[in-house]
Amino acid sequence: NVSLRELAEKLNIYIGFAAINNFWSLSDAEKYMEVARREFNILTPENQMKWDTIHPERDRYNFTPAEKHVEFAEENDMIVHGHTLVWHNQLPGWITGREWTKEELLNVLEDHIKTVVSHFKGRVKIWDVVNEAVSDSGTYRESVWYKTIGPEYIEKAFRWAKEADPDAILIYNDYSIEEINAKSNFVYNMIKELKEKGVPVDGIGFQMHIDYRGLNYDSFRRNLERFAKLGLQIYITEMDVRIPLSGSEEYYLKKQAEVCAKIFDICLDNPAVKAIQFWGFTDKYSWVPGFFKGYGKALLFDENYNPKPCYYAIKEVL
Ligand code: XIL
Repeated sequence: NVSLRELAEKLNIYIGFAAINNFWSLSDAEKYMEVARREFNILTPENQMKWDTIHPERDRYNFTPAEKHVEFAEENDMIVHGHTLVWHNQLPGWITGREWTKEELLNVLEDHIKTVVSHFKGRVKIWDVVNEAVSDSGTYRESVWYKTIGPEYIEKAFRWAKEADPDAILIYNDYSIEEINAKSNFVYNMIKELKEKGVPVDGIGFQMHIDYRGLNYDSFRRNLERFAKLGLQIYITEMDVRIPLSGSEEYYLKKQAEVCAKIFDICLDNPAVKAIQFWGFTDKYSWVPGFFKGYGKALLFDENYNPKPCYYAIKEVL
């Protein structure tokens, strides 16, 4: 009974999951960790490297929860994908609760990026340096970073991360950029310009929070191709394929399996794709039902850690 990670390792790619907060102290921690170490070779902490956890006060960093994720990965021969250095969400009150001058906020950002990246130097192999900096209509998102600093916060963030760990793979990560559309066009042009300026962007992360209806696969394939042509590595970073929680579960699970197989098929065809990571693995612990009302069951294992049709479907493709 071969595991996903064994199959992925033969293909020289990573397959992974987002690890939930404090998974080591869940009531079913043993079961959770058993499946995680059996199936995956790359781990992303779902929340515990975000600002509000890792940098709760201006002069205090809290690395302990993130450390536990990294230790679990190291004990089980997984690599770590760090998430995330610059984002507009899950910021601590000390950032959002006041006004900053451009200079002050640049100093805060530089300190944060350099401190966090140096702390995990050599242990976090891949960093989501900038997350979700673009709006759905294809403009810069009006975040505190953009409004206070201007678009150059993005290139500065990559340069600071590079200084702190020259060997880390540095990624721009976003959602709804899987297909060719206004948002992915903007991201494409933005990264192209950054690369032309010598900014160290190594990869693009496609979050891939989608539903059972899947994607326009031709558009997805061509989109991967154009990003690969920029010289970028490609990461599927947060995949989940949600289904409606009412109606024929059997039908939706079958559709979900088809979508997963199709996406894996296209990804495996493109050598720039280095990892495919799900945003969790058991439907018991998933952000989907809380965020997409009426939807859920978006992951590879059911609430009892039994593999679902989508699990078997991607096995066939791997
Ligand atoms: C989500 C987590 O899964 C939740 O636990 C948390 O409450 C909110 O954030 N895009 C991202 C992730 O980049 O960080 C988000 O994670 C999901 C969307």
